[in-house]
Amino acid sequence: MARKIIIDTDPGIDDAMAILFAYKAKEIDVLGLTTTFGNVPVVKATENALILNAVAGVDVPVAQGVDKPLQTPPRPHPDFVHGKDGFGNINWPATQNKPLDISAAQFIVDTVRRYPGEVTLVALGPLGNLAKALELDPEVADLVDEVVLMGGAHIEYGNVSPVAEANIINDPHAADKVFTANWQVTMIGLDVTHQVLLDNKVLERIKQANPVDGDFLYQAAQHYINFYSEKFGVEGCYFHDASTIAYILEPGLFGVELGSVRVACEGVAIGQTIVAPASMSFPEPAWDNVPHTQVCMEVDDQALLALFETTLTQ
Ligand code: BDR
Ligand code: CA
Repeated sequence: MARKIIIDTDPGIDDAMAILFAYKAKEIDVLGLTTTFGNVPVVKATENALILNAVAGVDVPVAQGVDKPLQTPPRPHPDFVHGKDGFGNINWPATQNKPLDISAAQFIVDTVRRYPGEVTLVALGPLGNLAKALELDPEVADLVDEVVLMGGAHIEYGNVSPVAEANIINDPHAADKVFTANWQVTMIGLDVTHQVLLDNKVLERIKQANPVDGDFLYQAAQHYINFYSEKFGVEGCYFHDASTIAYILEPGLFGVELGSVRVACEGVAIGQTIVAPASMSFPEPAWDNVPHTQVCMEVDDQALLALFETTLTQ
């Protein structure tokens, strides 16, 4: 049976890679897209989610979510990474399609209640919608199969501050709620996503074999690839969000460590994901009774990229 997922997203170029990857995977059934502010304002994120549906030719429900962090002031949208339109300034035409008239959090609660124990939440942006769903119906934590999120950094440097990754610093209070709730969280952070570099050779082969998804991805990725090439001197772009879908399809591609995660919500370390390894205990109680997150630390990058390519070209 295909794995049921909801993708919570702020599309975003790597979000687009993740979503089109998931749509093509027969082993995954995408029940909905829920949107959040992040790479772009939430209204644009919703428009972009609907564009991705149009590109892929699917009619997956889209529900709009939070437009700002729970408590911290909003941070600027990173148009130097994703472009003003979120898709690398390609200005893809908007669709006439509309989102549902319920909130993202309500959609998550309703869908999880409809399929108790079966739904995995795949989170690719700041975590406000998941935090709101927990607030709306705290029992959903027990009814979700797993939360797989792209965000955070354990040992690796951050990409917004020396310790903070973008999705977490964009709403640290929401992230702390998600990491401390009573559900199974798998964290796919910069420790692994900085090990996977997608280049134009792969994107060109996808475009050749699957011009529909491939042309969109190739066009959108050019701005993103230029950003990473200039900033890090690498040939290609980090595959951040799309790694979550590879994890759903083949968790064996990743090496995980268990630990309780808390998020720094203020001060110079704001947005840091601080992992207390399961094998250690500390006198400081902040990590006590916090469920263990699976923190991904290793990845088979070549196998992961091959999975992306074969899924999109099959
Ligand atoms: C994360 O931040 C966003 O810009 C990307 O879409 C990804 O979700 C990487 O730090
Ligand atoms: Ca994202």
